[in-house]
Amino acid sequence: MSTGPLAELHDKARAVLDPVHYDYYAGGVGDEVVLGENEAAFRRLALLPRVLRGAPTRDLGVDLPGGHLDLPVLVAPTAFHRLAHPEGELATARAAAAAGTVLVSGVASTVAIGDVVAAARAVRAEASVWFQLYPQPDQDVTACLVERAERAGCTALVVTADSPVFGRHRRDAEHGFHDLPAGLAAENMRDLPGGPPGGVRDIGMSPSVSWRDLDRLRELTSLPLWLKGVLHPRDAVLAVEHGVAGVVVSNHGGRQLDLVPAAVEALPAVVDAVAGRVPVLLDGGVRGGGDVAVALALGAAAVGVGRPVLWGLAADGEAGVSRVLAVLRDEVDHVLALCGGRDLADLTPDLVVSRGTGV
Ligand code: FNR
Repeated sequence: MSTGPLAELHDKARAVLDPVHYDYYAGGVGDEVVLGENEAAFRRLALLPRVLRGAPTRDLGVDLPGGHLDLPVLVAPTAFHRLAHPEGELATARAAAAAGTVLVSGVASTVAIGDVVAAARAVRAEASVWFQLYPQPDQDVTACLVERAERAGCTALVVTADSPVFGRHRRDAEHGFHDLPAGLAAENMRDLPGGPPGGVRDIGMSPSVSWRDLDRLRELTSLPLWLKGVLHPRDAVLAVEHGVAGVVVSNHGGRQLDLVPAAVEALPAVVDAVAGRVPVLLDGGVRGGGDVAVALALGAAAVGVGRPVLWGLAADGEAGVSRVLAVLRDEVDHVLALCGGRDLADLTPDLVVSRGTGV
């Protein structure tokens, strides 16, 4: 993120955040190779627009299992929003609802999921909030979290699969960032069987997580299940066979394994493997409307944004998140117009080429 309104929000966020918390949000795993590659890979791609296909207005809407989006950008699940702003996930939920998009609310939220959904619905009665969870080592805890999400009125579950263990983040280790500040907690994890979690890295990841956990979740709930953190095309096929409603191509924003491809590089093979049976989302490195258009042209139904939302939240609370989503909506609309598109279906793979290799 170098220039433009989103870069300005990032700069402001960096200026106002405690450096320890800024690094927690900004940082990645290991040498942060994948963190950089997620953005750099978009720069290596170019759009090949079509001409003389003008339309007075464009339709940016997309229907997904679990809700309709007015723009093809949703808020990816990120932890602990009250580190960024006192209103935390409440502000994020309001801004997402006002923009007509989905907030994927993390299990590691500093506001309980019931309050997050209520905040979104107070802005827009039909707002959809999805709940992200890690399958827990204790199945009773998983069941309890699912029940909380259902009771809150969430319309889909996002199961994060790329985190059997936590990635090792040097910035956090150097700062000794292990605990939330006094007064903040992972509110969804209160009063669970087995007791509350300890520090920031103790939100119940399970090293033995397996496809059986996904099947159990399938049996526990009738909510649409998205599987997040898929990079290998064979896992995408397995996910479809295990009944998921959709797949999220993601490397966790470069926070888990520092050896994987950029998210957008992993996308085409997953799209091929899924072959239209379920929608595919992408997150990682999306920093502008051009990136959104490229991901959609390569077969994503929509994209998630993580850090840009955190920067908006830190910089200016709900208004900052609204600004991030408004900028992305405006940029996608503009790029679509310049590509000769009327709706998102006009963004097709033939519009994407690699830079430097000719057309
Ligand atoms: C995340 N992400 C994440 N994902 C998830 O499934 N559960 C979680 O609790 C978190 N927490 C989290 C915290 C922070 C600070 C960040 C930056 C990210 C990953 C997130 O959903 C998404 O995959 C990435 O953020 C997308 O990359 P960008 O948009 O940040 O580049």
